[in-house]
Amino acid sequence: MENGVAKMETPTNVTIKGILGLLMANLDYENKKRVISLGMGDPTAFSCFTTTSVAEDAVVDALTSQKFNGYSPTVGLPQARKAISEYLSINLPYKLSPDDVFITAGCTQAIEVAISILARPNSNILVPKPGFPIYELCAAFRNVEIRHFDLLPENNWEVDLDAIDALADHNTVAIVIINPGNPCGNVYSYQHLKKIAETAKKHKVVVVADEVYGHLAFGQNPFVPMGVFGSMVPVLTLGSLSKRWIVPGWRLGWFVTTDPNSMFKNTKTVERLKKYFDICGGPATFIQAAVPRIIKETSDTFFMKTLDILKHTSDVCMKKIEDIPCLTCPTKPQGSMAMMVKLNVSLLKDIHDDIDFCFKLAKEESVILLPGLTVGLKNWVRITFAAEPSLLEEALERIKTFSRRHSYDTNGYI
Ligand SMILES: *Cc1c(COP(=O)(O)O)cnc(C)c1O
Ligand SMILES: *[C@@H]1O[C@H](CO)[C@@H](O)[C@H](O)[C@H]1NC(C)=O
Repeated sequence: MENGVAKMETPTNVTIKGILGLLMANLDYENKKRVISLGMGDPTAFSCFTTTSVAEDAVVDALTSQKFNGYSPTVGLPQARKAISEYLSINLPYKLSPDDVFITAGCTQAIEVAISILARPNSNILVPKPGFPIYELCAAFRNVEIRHFDLLPENNWEVDLDAIDALADHNTVAIVIINPGNPCGNVYSYQHLKKIAETAKKHKVVVVADEVYGHLAFGQNPFVPMGVFGSMVPVLTLGSLSKRWIVPGWRLGWFVTTDPNSMFKNTKTVERLKKYFDICGGPATFIQAAVPRIIKETSDTFFMKTLDILKHTSDVCMKKIEDIPCLTCPTKPQGSMAMMVKLNVSLLKDIHDDIDFCFKLAKEESVILLPGLTVGLKNWVRITFAAEPSLLEEALERIKTFSRRHSYDTNGYI
């Protein structure tokens, strides 16, 4: 089909779901090992990660009330917009209005909205490497050019601000920040976020703040939303219930103009946004209707439990990785559910790269890891530590055995 199809630069990278599918197909069921997937960021696969009954009850009550079987306004139910604006305002030096909040089908759709709204002829956006490939995919469909800036592994995966200065030009429309970070597990300090805001201001670009892991911070740095710097630079805050409430399948997310100077409040932009939402089709109305109760009634105990597990499982990873010579982790994760681990293939006799490592690991040990190449870093792997602690330990044991089997040098191994 050549005619009628807009010419589009097809992303050359394989999607995360695509490569995980190939890895699953490469499993060897003959070896009778239980499959442990640390590839995908879906904690619901593990029984220690279940949502709170508060959220379930709120959804059930909204559903059975029979009040929410109709369409919602395309920008979202007013009570859900209000609840989210209040929830986000708690951590901001100003108050958001319900009109700042647009309800989306998960954070994924919020990304799609952000890129579509920002797109204009010849525009480019700056995205982190390693990053989250949905940004590249959306940009390709909207003919927006992607330019990558590095995150610095030795420096808590901070943004290489010099790279931003080098990449930004008059066609740059936005800088994307993922904090707490996937795939790196970074949680940025107030000072670093401030520098990012200053850099964005200097280049007159918007910051797109992917805060889908908001509050999932268990290390030294507390979570600071980018919107704190909204007076300095307009911020689009993207989020969802998916990660903090462990309900990725509910598809409840938000696109928020965290922008006290109302740069996005001109009639034209608001009209464009409203029209765009007319074609979006957000989450089911009864899920939206449950949001006020979900946000107000979820206890700190529930959040603390999740953080305790994530802190524990990330510690387990760090500790086990120390015993595997071909793997190193330059920075301890402080948040989110994933970390990047560096692979030294020169220590392995018959493994060429991260893709090869992950395919052979899947086949021989039934453990799934995500090759770093899929998130932009060759010869790294992403480990999702949102897993049952005992299974995670077993997976890392198997990775150790695997690495030993493929290693040149058996010194230091028993
Ligand atoms: C999971 C994730 C998303 C998508 O969130 P959903 O609410 O599941 O659509 C977006 N950005 C990042 C960085 C993620 O890890
Ligand atoms: C890989 O390991 C070898 C042997 O220990 C070492 O000399 C080399 O510097 C390592 N490479 C990287 C990229 O860490």
